[in-house]
Parts: sequence; C-alpha cells; structure tokens
Amino acid sequence: MATLWSKRYAQRTGRVSSSTIRELLKLTEKGDVISFAGGLPAPEVFPVAEFQTACHKVLEEMGPKALQYGTTEGYRPLREMIVRHMARYKINVSVDNVLITAGSQQALDLIGKLLINPGDRLLVEEPTYLGALQAFNMYQAEYVTVPIDDDGLRTDLLEEALRAGPKFMYILPNFQNPGGVTLSLSRRMELIALAERYGVPIIEDDPYGQLRYEGEHIKPLVVLDSERPGCDDGGRYSGNVIYLSTFSKTLAPGLRLGWVVAPEEVISKLVQLKQGTDLHTSTFTQIVAYEVARGGFLDKHVRKIRQVYRERRDVMLAALERYFPPGVRWTHPQGGLFLWVTLPEWVNTTQILPHAIEEKVAYVPGTDFFASGGGYNTMRLNFSNARPEMIEEGIRRLGRVLATQLEAEKQVA
Ligand SMILES: Cc1ncc(COP(=O)(O)O)c(C=O)c1O
Repeated sequence: MATLWSKRYAQRTGRVSSSTIRELLKLTEKGDVISFAGGLPAPEVFPVAEFQTACHKVLEEMGPKALQYGTTEGYRPLREMIVRHMARYKINVSVDNVLITAGSQQALDLIGKLLINPGDRLLVEEPTYLGALQAFNMYQAEYVTVPIDDDGLRTDLLEEALRAGPKFMYILPNFQNPGGVTLSLSRRMELIALAERYGVPIIEDDPYGQLRYEGEHIKPLVVLDSERPGCDDGGRYSGNVIYLSTFSKTLAPGLRLGWVVAPEEVISKLVQLKQGTDLHTSTFTQIVAYEVARGGFLDKHVRKIRQVYRERRDVMLAALERYFPPGVRWTHPQGGLFLWVTLPEWVNTTQILPHAIEEKVAYVPGTDFFASGGGYNTMRLNFSNARPEMIEEGIRRLGRVLATQLEAEKQVA
C-alpha cells in the first residue's frame, strides 16, 4: 500500500528493491552456516594491535587536528603515501590526481553522480560487480554488456558494443569480482586502443590488484593509458582512465577508506560533488590509517595476507576437485577473494540456495551480477573469510547438495 512517504520517493529509487536472495543470505549470518556468500576479508588478519597503538599516538600527538574538519581531497600525507605506493606499480601520478573517498563504493557513486544522465548506456562486463550496478542504477543507467572468459573481458566483442555509444566502460582487470579472472596484457592493450579510437573513457576498479598469489603482475589500464603519447603530463595524469582502489582488502574494510586517481579536472569536479555528499572522509580514520600503513607496515602486512588467502584459495580449489559433481566448472583465480562456478545450463542456482542453507552452507547465485539478465546456472564463492578447515567442510556440504539437486533435476527432465 502506498504510504505518505512512498508516494514521495524520487523516481530514481524505483529500481531499488529488497532482494529475496539478500533476505535469505541474512539468515546465514548467524549460527553454524559456512558462508561463501559475502566478500569479507579474514578477520584474523586485521591489524588490531597496530590500530590500537596508532589511535593512541594520534590522539596524544595531534588529537585536535585529527578530530577537526579536513579538506575534501583528503589528508595530504596519506595521499602522498598512496602516490609513492602506486609508483611501485608504475602508476606515476601527482598528489593532485588523488582523492580520498569513503571506500571505493563512494567513488562509484560519485562517478555515477558526475557522469550518468538518466538513460545513459554504460559498458560493463558480464558478470560484473553488483555494488557498481547498484550505484549506477541510482542514476538510471542502462547497460551494454560484454562477456568475460578466462582471460577477462572478451575484447573481440568490444567494438560492436562500443558502437552502441556507451558513456563509459566499467572494467575490473584484476581477479574480477565475481568472475575471479584476470584481463590479459594483450587484451588490456587492445582495450586502451579501442577506448581512444571510440572516445569512450574507462573506469578501472582495482580493489584486489595487490592480492596476487601466482603469476606476474600485469600493468594496470591507467599505466598503459599513460604510456600513450601526450598522456603523461610531467607526472600529472591527464588520460582516459579513472582508477579506483581501496584499503578495504589490505588493511580493513571497516575503515571505509578508498581513493580515486583521475585527471585533475575530474578530481576537481569529484571534490565538488563529494562536498555535497559528506564534506570529506573522516579525518581521524585517515590519519590513523596513515600512521598504521607508513614505514613499510603495509607492504609487510600485504605479504602476510597473500599467504593466508593463497592457502585458502588452494584449499577451496582442491576441495572443489574432490567434492563437486561432474559437469561443474570453476575459474582458477590468480588472486583476489572469489571464484566463479558454472553448472550445466539447465540448473538454477537461486532455486538450489534454500537447499544449501538447509545443509548449512551458503553462496551467492550468479544472476544478480548480470546487468542484462541470465547467469542462472552460476554462483560466486568467496574463499577469504572462512578458515581452511571450514572451507573444506563447506565445499563438501555444497558438493553433496549439488549432486542431489543435479540428480533430481535430471530425473524430472
Ligand atoms: C570490485 C569492487 N569494487 C568496489 C568495492 C567496494 O570496496 P570498498 O570497501 O572500498 O568500498 C568492492 C568490494 O568488495 C569490490 O569488490
């Protein structure tokens, strides 16, 4: 029934609805369900003691500054540290190319606010990060989708999609969420060339780039783009890519600290929009995170996280081999937090989820990650959050559920 309030909601909220899957997955947060559904980092690796020390130090040495309003661009020493850190990955930009945000999620929202008019088409991978679709939907975006395979975005299908005139492309080159796949160097180069040829800019979302467990680092799109002639303006970046990253997976997601790298003109616009949103990201959190991360701690900590997650990934891959029924395929992520499972086409993972939860194991059905529908026979599994022995047990349970359901559906068919 329409209430006084609901009759007044803005039109753009019409596409926001509560999802039955989300409601179902809420049930898995308590009790003894082994959940591969969330995208949560391992709580055991949060550097709690380091934060405790840093909070104390910051309050003692610069309490009033840390508790005061700050600039919208962000705490300068933190931005300078990010610039130094990124330079090691060959992302050579100036501090004026960097804006601190309340996680990458806020950056996605600000980008939507800056670039999307109602009805604008965006080119996204299929599947893609659900949180980005949620942010962009709020600005009434429409989508042109390009599928991914084991080497990431299918660049052989890109030109046709670009002819549909998308406003921008939203791309996840490293250990894609949800697909777990990585865009190859040759495809990255092709993508950069096509972006330039068709005049379509790229949003490169890279929360997981530092969490590589095997294989060689591949240059980010922003680097390949800055290597185009005329793009690197004496250390100031002025190209076709907006690059996003975050401390959520390397320090802790509860900090809500991410950053945007973009040409200065774009940063100035984003700063104006962010002022209207939250004035600035928490001064206290930025200063504390800077104190924790500086002096080499972040590198040391990332090395530790890589070890923990590599082990969990390997345990999950081995358990999948052991317990999953024939006819099921999955990706082999070289990093990140997720892998992607594809079942026979006639299987519906949304319908199987309640059976899995009954057996006390959970996953996310893949369909929500598809901007143009489909993906009913897919699911995303997270391997960072559960301990190795729980991963083994959870995959054993899920394998049993899938085998039973596949057998039952085969008989009906
Ligand atoms: C691809 C992608 N982008 C953005 C985010 C949001 O991260 P943050 O915690 O920095 O807001 C996530 C979180 O899981 C993600 O997977």
